Amino acid sequence: MVKYSEIYWRDNFYEKWKDQLPSYDLIQQAREDIAPKLDRATVEPFYKTLVQLPQFQSKLRDYRGDSVIIGDREELTDEQFKLVYQCLEEFIPWRKGPFEIFGTHIDAEWRSNLKWDRVRSVLPDLKYKKICDVGCNNSYYMYRMLEHQPEFVLGIDPMMKYYFNYLLLQRFAAEPNIHFDMLGVEHMNLFEDFFDVVFFMGIIYHRRNPIQTLMDINTSMKRGGTLILEVSGIDGDEAYCLFPEDRYMKARGYWFLPTWKAMENMLKKTNFSEIEIFDKFPLDFHEQRKTDWSRWESLEDFLDPDDPTKTVEGYPAPHRIYIKAVKK
Ligand SMILES: C[S@@+](CC[C@H](N)C(=O)[O-])C[C@H]1O[C@@H](n2cnc3c(N)ncnc32)[C@H](O)[C@@H]1O
Repeated sequence: MVKYSEIYWRDNFYEKWKDQLPSYDLIQQAREDIAPKLDRATVEPFYKTLVQLPQFQSKLRDYRGDSVIIGDREELTDEQFKLVYQCLEEFIPWRKGPFEIFGTHIDAEWRSNLKWDRVRSVLPDLKYKKICDVGCNNSYYMYRMLEHQPEFVLGIDPMMKYYFNYLLLQRFAAEPNIHFDMLGVEHMNLFEDFFDVVFFMGIIYHRRNPIQTLMDINTSMKRGGTLILEVSGIDGDEAYCLFPEDRYMKARGYWFLPTWKAMENMLKKTNFSEIEIFDKFPLDFHEQRKTDWSRWESLEDFLDPDDPTKTVEGYPAPHRIYIKAVKK
């Protein structure tokens, strides 16, 4: 039986950067605590087909368009293609995408290319930069970032499913400059003054302690480094947050929904400057919807069918707010 705890543990990305990481031992401690989770029977569905796949770097790798393209159909036998397809199905629901894997188009729940287009228009120079994508999910954006030739992109996300999703894609992409770890944003304070650019998109409203979270992210960044933050919030120009009594869009994990002004103030108080709100708009069904690769409930089920400006609970429907800020 494959021991993924050992595979994860041996793949020590941080060794190369040891001299620049004063909390190197604590990072290793955190990884040591995470590793045994990978041997639990509950994660077997994510690797039972994966282990049977061939492993090679595909000649076809293109991350410049809307779809992350990995693999040409001609590179696989029919038998191998079937296995790859089965493995792709095992990762349903695909939340972020699209991908094109050996000719199979994966139309994910989110058209993440739209988010990337907005972000790309304000990016600082990423060439040779150390980048962290916090809450990187299945690593869609990490591949998109490669176009800009960063030193590396470290994606962190504590969900084990996404670790195996990353291993599946890397099995054929084998990109040396991206790396995935199952650390969470709560570990960012272990990377003192390390990253040039941090992406923190679609997560802060799920944090119980958003101020501490922003302070941890600030700690991880070099002075003058750039934060790209994207949040689900509410409309309005006053510095308020909506604090749902129970569920918001059927989920319990929305702790608060800020206006752009509330978010700006939080950033000011956590040592960020040059705060620029570069986009804000109501989320729509064009960007988040059910697809064959994500068949369960989606935005249309979370909004009031008679009034899409409200959630099913009667709260204001979410606006997405895009912010760029610099560490002081
Ligand atoms: C709404 S998704 C956003 C994904 C992606 N960043 C985007 O903008 O499309 C939230 C992501 O945060 C991840 N996540 C959950 N807890 C986290 C934590 N403590 N630290 C970092 N990421 C976390 C989830 O697994 C999920 O991939």
